[in-house]
Amino acid sequence: MKIACVMGSPRREGNSATIARHFLEKAAALGAETETFSLNTLSYRGCQACYACKTKLDRCILKDDLSLVLAAVQEADVLVLATPTYFGGISGQLKCFIDRTYSYLKPDYLSNSQPSRLAPGKKLLFIITQGHPDEAMFNQVFPLYDRFFRWYGYEDSRLIRACGVGSGGMVDLPERFLLEAEEAARDFIS
Ligand SMILES: Cc1cc2nc3c(=O)[nH]c(=O)nc-3n(C[C@H](O)[C@H](O)[C@H](O)COP(=O)(O)O)c2cc1C
Repeated sequence: MKIACVMGSPRREGNSATIARHFLEKAAALGAETETFSLNTLSYRGCQACYACKTKLDRCILKDDLSLVLAAVQEADVLVLATPTYFGGISGQLKCFIDRTYSYLKPDYLSNSQPSRLAPGKKLLFIITQGHPDEAMFNQVFPLYDRFFRWYGYEDSRLIRACGVGSGGMVDLPERFLLEAEEAARDFIS
């Protein structure tokens, strides 16, 4: 089983990255092959809305550091997206990546019963951290993106969400989130 992990935080040792790494370590111990991309270290542009992926190519026409990431995610059975909450949403780094995944949709995706260029049956783990301790705040983020990723073929998805962490730049994850990551790895790999 192949896992591609896309890290959306600029903090490589931050809270979301720590949960993601824990998941990946457990998954690797269970036999998965993992690959990690830290978006903040890459050079790339957001979607240019050129529609080349709908008119002349079956992939994104832009050639930059995201080309490799988009290809690796297409190949992988499991996608891990890890992000801090910024202004009630995902990080800008991750948003630009997700916009580029528009290239995964076929030209007639609105009417096609199989709208995605990705193979079906993939799994998605979304990891979101936020400073605000109230779980009712910003809880729209996962359902919003989950809907789009279901369209791509991610039929099995899971959220690990840590609230009330990272204020003032701290890495202060309670142990239970690492345990959640281990449990997710066991469930996804078995
Ligand atoms: C630019 C910026 C915007 C943020 N916006 C929010 C926010 O809207 N809501 C919130 O609860 N926390 C917000 N935070 C706090 C982060 O979400 C929190 O510290 C998170 O745990 C950091 O994750 P990381 O350690 O993986 O980078 C913000 C932090 C930054 C730097």
